[in-house]
Amino acid sequence: MIVCHCRAVNRRQIEAAALCGAATVRDIVGACGAGGVCGGCRPVIEEILDETPAALPLRRAVAVA
Ligand code: FES
Repeated sequence: MIVCHCRAVNRRQIEAAALCGAATVRDIVGACGAGGVCGGCRPVIEEILDETPAALPLRRAVAVA
């Protein structure tokens, strides 16, 4: 399923970026471009990051810092 229509990025690509260490929407923008144009997909990217177990420790670390 396409999540970011501006960059044609699907959910699996975002999950893969999270598994490689992307913990924030900004990280996802840097990794695959999703979220970097209109921003309309950013809430969905946040949800995916919250649902990706590998990203959770990194997200907690970012929240504390
Ligand atoms: S839909 Fe993702 S930046 Fe526009």
